[in-house]
Amino acid sequence: MLSSLLALGMLVLSLAGAMDLQVPEEPVVGLFGHDATLHCSFSPDANFSLNDLTLIWHLTDTQRSVHRFSGGQDQLADQSKGYANRTTLFYDQLAQGNVSLLLRRVEISDEGTFTCFVRVRDYSSAAVALQVAAPYSKPTVNLEPHKDLKPGDLASVTCHASRGYPEANILWQDSQGSNITENITTSQVANEEGLFEVNSVLQVLVEPGSTYSCLVHNPVLQQETKASVTITGQPLAFPTAALWLTVALAVCVVVLLVVFLYVCQKKIRQSAEEEEENAGTEEQEEEGEEPKTALQPLKNLEDNDGNEQDID
Ligand SMILES: *[C@@H]1O[C@H](CO)[C@@H](O)[C@H](O)[C@H]1NC(C)=O
Ligand SMILES: *[C@@H]1O[C@H](CO)[C@@H](O)[C@H](O)[C@H]1NC(C)=O
Ligand SMILES: *[C@@H]1O[C@H](CO)[C@@H](O)[C@H](O)[C@H]1NC(C)=O
Ligand SMILES: *[C@@H]1O[C@H](CO)[C@@H](O)[C@H](O)[C@H]1NC(C)=O
Ligand SMILES: *[C@@H]1O[C@H](CO)[C@@H](O)[C@H](O)[C@H]1NC(C)=O
Repeated sequence: MLSSLLALGMLVLSLAGAMDLQVPEEPVVGLFGHDATLHCSFSPDANFSLNDLTLIWHLTDTQRSVHRFSGGQDQLADQSKGYANRTTLFYDQLAQGNVSLLLRRVEISDEGTFTCFVRVRDYSSAAVALQVAAPYSKPTVNLEPHKDLKPGDLASVTCHASRGYPEANILWQDSQGSNITENITTSQVANEEGLFEVNSVLQVLVEPGSTYSCLVHNPVLQQETKASVTITGQPLAFPTAALWLTVALAVCVVVLLVVFLYVCQKKIRQSAEEEEENAGTEEQEEEGEEPKTALQPLKNLEDNDGNEQDID
């Protein structure tokens, strides 16, 4: 469509003949919210006076007036509402034939083709295309559910980027940087300003240590923003609190073991000594440490065998 409009502009230009308007061949990229200059100029005669100039900037499609200048001053009575206070000319350069239009605070709805119409004695017109663009925010990437994931579970990696224009190209890559093309659902929804909110969801089977990157590419600005998420493995996710608890438990076990061995050793030595004594005096019931109830029937055995070590 743009090219046909440009062709139409060329046709008008060639019909008018005498006057030569200079306009950019490529669409002008205007950043959303910023100012854009739509260039248009001609080479005036040596006796050119501003009073002889009629300049009309209008929307090519609808013919609605964007900015009009004639009789040496702006004529904004018929200006479209959407352009009120948003247009200005480079007044100090008009005498040199520079009839470029400065469009302030570019909006998404400004995207389209503008016609620059100039009449001095001859007249001519040419079209200037405006392409609006807005850079996307750096995407946010999240894993859902983000807790209690086990290898083999089905999970969603979500990617969100906002306030960009025009629609983005979304690319997902794995740890090796290879393109992922399957199991992706992407939506791009325009907000009230016409800027896009991009949401893309990648379905994956959880594999610890794998990284997923979401790349958001603005085709007009050649801007690319990227964010990644890495699924950590179970061992890496081991909480430090649990780690310290384990260490503490291990220390306790070792200490208990040492105490136990020490007691055992002491006991063995003690009973060995007792055995020696018993052999001489036949004395009984010396050991207070042992539980009395369980001891009684055993003592009888002990009397028979003369060997205490089986008790332990
Ligand atoms: C201006 O100059 C052109 C030639 O360059 C001539 O044809 C035209 O009549 C002049 N106009 C005036 C108002 O002098
Ligand atoms: C444009 O500016 C004039 C004067 O500052 C103001 O009265 C008017 O409301 C403005 N119009 C818009 C659409 O902002
Ligand atoms: C017209 O004026 C604008 C703003 O100063 C400038 O950027 C542009 O180069 C000028 N064009 C010509 C043909 O001088
Ligand atoms: C991934 O896809 C993009 C866009 O289709 C392409 O430019 C790029 O070369 C691809 N990369 C790989 C590694 O296939
Ligand atoms: C992804 O898509 C492939 C092919 O369509 C399918 O075999 C696989 O099960 C899908 N993986 C997930 C996690 O949905």
